[in-house]
Amino acid sequence: MRLRESLLSRRKFFIGSVLGGLSMLVAYVLNPVVRFLFHREKIPLPGAVKVAMSDVEAIAPNSARYFEYGHLPGILLKTERGELRAFSAKCTHLDCTVQYEPESRKFYCACHKGYFDDKGVNIAGPPPSPLLSFGMERQEDGMIISYQGGRKSKG
Ligand code: FES
Repeated sequence: MRLRESLLSRRKFFIGSVLGGLSMLVAYVLNPVVRFLFHREKIPLPGAVKVAMSDVEAIAPNSARYFEYGHLPGILLKTERGELRAFSAKCTHLDCTVQYEPESRKFYCACHKGYFDDKGVNIAGPPPSPLLSFGMERQEDGMIISYQGGRKSKG
């Protein structure tokens, strides 16, 4: 009888050790994921960034170029008529980076097949809202691109 009680105690100890180890493993794996997901939103965006005029002029009509806007990927589009438009390249669905498709003149998000028109308006797929639009001001040596309080694109 005494031996049986001893075995049960060891079993409980073993199960407790395994569950404790698994809990620590899950916490170890989830910690950076949670920090990544929730910390990034708290990083303030810069008021403005400058893209060198040589980089702006190198963009061919009906094509786009990426730039960095703080921690956000930005995308600068030059339309066929030469009009410049700047957006966050972060998809409004689950934050994948969009790309510009010259053939269709749309921004495409490959993660879940989301589409935005060339004004950043969500037109197909799961994105729930337009791309964040940036303001622009031309200066001698570059294009000043500024965040305007999270303004969404309008069609
Ligand atoms: S993250 Fe872009 S469509 Fe889902």
